[in-house]
Amino acid sequence: MPRKKTLHKKPEKKTRAKKAATLTTPRGMRDLLHNEYFTYQGFFEKAADIALYYGFQPIETPILEKEEVFARSVGEETDIVAKEMYAFSTKGRDRVALRPEGTAGIMRSYIEHGMLSLPQPVMLYYHGPFFRHERPQHGRARQFWQFGFEMFGTDQSVADALTIKLTHLILEEVGIKNLCVLINSIGDDQCRPAYIKELVAYYRKHINKLCTHCRKRLRVNPLRLLDCKNKHCADFKKDAPEIVGFLCEPCKRHLKEVLEYLDTMEIAYQIDHTLARGLDYYTRTVFEIVSQVEKNEVNENKDAESSDSDTQKDQGADKKTDQKEAVEEESLSLGGGGRYDNLARALGSKRDIPAVGAAIGVDRVTKAPGFSAPTPRVVKRPKVYFIQVGAGAKFKSFEVIEALRMARIPIAHSISKDTLSAQLGMAEKAKIPHIIILGQKEANEDAVIVRNMTTRSQETVPIAKIGEYFKKH
Ligand code: HAM
Repeated sequence: MPRKKTLHKKPEKKTRAKKAATLTTPRGMRDLLHNEYFTYQGFFEKAADIALYYGFQPIETPILEKEEVFARSVGEETDIVAKEMYAFSTKGRDRVALRPEGTAGIMRSYIEHGMLSLPQPVMLYYHGPFFRHERPQHGRARQFWQFGFEMFGTDQSVADALTIKLTHLILEEVGIKNLCVLINSIGDDQCRPAYIKELVAYYRKHINKLCTHCRKRLRVNPLRLLDCKNKHCADFKKDAPEIVGFLCEPCKRHLKEVLEYLDTMEIAYQIDHTLARGLDYYTRTVFEIVSQVEKNEVNENKDAESSDSDTQKDQGADKKTDQKEAVEEESLSLGGGGRYDNLARALGSKRDIPAVGAAIGVDRVTKAPGFSAPTPRVVKRPKVYFIQVGAGAKFKSFEVIEALRMARIPIAHSISKDTLSAQLGMAEKAKIPHIIILGQKEANEDAVIVRNMTTRSQETVPIAKIGEYFKKH
């Protein structure tokens, strides 16, 4: 009897191989490419150059710090720490965080390395990437770049003035127009508590009309009430008590002196009674610098920017809130800072280390009206286009490139190309004043042909004499 055939289900044919998803940067983060890389580098070099002339020295601290460094300094109840910090546990179960700002890590380093024993003030500058998990929008990214500087070990008002001057000067030197310093004093441990009491009493009267954030702020961090950007809360802000009336004598004197320095330096400022800043470590002076631009200038600039959003949904949400926050955007600060006399103790120092500093937001500055990118030192306009033809010549190329480097002659080339015509075409396009051709014959004679692209004259030059030749010509 014929065996009954068992029916096997045919395996389903895989019609299409699963397509690998294209990977992109995380939302709110981006690559620095091409000219933009050099723009940032040029800015950092320019800012560092100015900072060095003003007596600051460089420092670099880790991008990752113990979470506590920020929780104890920036403040656990601040948006930066509570909502925006990239904090996680390592495999060894340490709690760490990507730095959302620079001051806390640098103070940690100052204490850790006993810089108190150095002549004071210790003046340090730094730059690099910082991370805050904010909703990406105009002027706000999740990875952004800052140039900052700190003066440790001085409580003198002249240090506050120097910090403001340096921030202002760097912005001015890169072409930013109509700069204005918004400045305030938020007092110290002596006088601030009485102000906070008054502020809380005032806001309590309006508690039912406040936004949900402000209701929380009233409980956990009343000074932040002054920071609220909500339109409805802005009305209450107008009539809120001003801290200046509560400042103790030393704080009042300190503020007066800082303003006198600004007057002497003819730096435009506005006292902003609602300026409190989003970090808890400040005492006395707080400031931000804005560029007061015409409304249409802001919009033009905004239009030129690309959106960081990676989904349609995000884009829609961003647009809506962008409109709502248009007022806020116009006054986005390019840089900000202030005094932080209590931070050292919060980070475990046995001694008080009064200090003051500021940081500039490079992403915002490079997009601000008037910004003119300083050329970085590393960018060298090529003076020579180097062409090689033939296998022997390709081997010899390294010798020629090195001879040109030793003679400090910047070059362009396309070493992977083989034909003369392809390389000549590229040289013509690049509009470089000279070309150097290394053929088989020249390679055998340890020489190259140097052609002047303007006059079309050319001569053979020994490789060993390339430097000398270009010095003469
Ligand atoms: P900050 O005001 O938080 O201060 O940041 C300084 C600057 O960084 C801002 O004025 C802004 O230009 C830029 N910035 C901040 N967040 C973003 C973001 N999400 N996207 C783009 N740019 C941003 C500090 O960080 C303090 N550590 C400054 C300081 C130094 N205080 C004393 N010493």
